[in-house]
Amino acid sequence: MNIIDQASEAIKQGRLVAMPTETVYGLAANAEDDYACHKIFALKNRPTKNPLIVHVASFIQAQEIAIFNEDARLIASLWPGPITMVLPKKPGAAIADSVTAGLDTVAIRIPAHQIALKLLNQCGKPLAAPSANPSGRLSPTSFQHVEIYFGNNNNDDVLILPDTYGNHAKYETSQYGLESTIIDLTTNTPTILRYGFITPNLIESILGKSIAHGTSSKEIKAPGMAFKHYSPVTSITINSNHIEEGEVGLEFGHNSMVNNKGSYTLNLSKNGDMAEAAHNLFKMLHQLDSYAITNNMTKIVVAKIPNEGIGLAINDRLDRAAETT
Ligand code: TXA
Ligand code: MG
Repeated sequence: MNIIDQASEAIKQGRLVAMPTETVYGLAANAEDDYACHKIFALKNRPTKNPLIVHVASFIQAQEIAIFNEDARLIASLWPGPITMVLPKKPGAAIADSVTAGLDTVAIRIPAHQIALKLLNQCGKPLAAPSANPSGRLSPTSFQHVEIYFGNNNNDDVLILPDTYGNHAKYETSQYGLESTIIDLTTNTPTILRYGFITPNLIESILGKSIAHGTSSKEIKAPGMAFKHYSPVTSITINSNHIEEGEVGLEFGHNSMVNNKGSYTLNLSKNGDMAEAAHNLFKMLHQLDSYAITNNMTKIVVAKIPNEGIGLAINDRLDRAAETT
């Protein structure tokens, strides 16, 4: 049996599979199996009021689960891809109650990653999958990240898929490196609930109208989405260009940090390329965090990132990572 067959069997048996996607790694279960989906909440220590994203293989399968209005059909032109829509759940859809946290809406997307799509096609089930990290921690963008979180705790229940398969380099793992953009289409005005690689401007140009932003305040819009999120173990300071002894740095662009003491720093993108910066964000935060822990360093200092386009998503993740409560 190849690894996709094994993963497909695991899903059908109610086990969990960590699957690579183009955004971040997901911790997947059969979205029709309530018992299996409860395991996701337990393993992540995720509040059960925080609903999960359902991943499907095709638009036809998506239509069995959610009701698509005209706006939703337009946005579906971005699928497969890093955008999730919140839509009315279709009456009678076979999605487990734990997945939607009892809501009558459902969050759904088609991922653009060869391995995720192979698994979805092979098992024939919709897959509920949040990011494959313990609640509140940094999102995983590689096999190794997931293995550190869930591979080593005598957990026979999680099968971790590799991030590459054959020669499909086109959809490299975590190509985008940030969770999908979430747009709520159940409100009068479509509302962005989470920024991502697909920007508000792109969505507005596809819909031909303005959308609302539900992410800018600390108010909780997506249920269960606490403000503090995506945190390294080491504390983090943002919008700074000053690094002290005992600190590590995350730079952006040509202007490097004031760094006389030869501190350890990484650069999100020397050329100021926002897509490259997004791709590197979690990867470098993981690296800096383990370096800081190993070397008893106290803080990760992050440079200022332009707050537009993909920068909205990068700053959203950094704001949440830096929150202390
Ligand atoms: O890129 C991604 O979206 C990744 C990969 C694995 O696909 N998944 C991901 O899932 O980031 P997660 O669970 O970490 O984030 C899902 C977000 C949560 O903030 C949740 O509250 C929101 O989606 N959500 C899910 N269902 C919802 C609904 N019916 N209404 C509003 N928000 C919802
Ligand atoms: Mg997450």
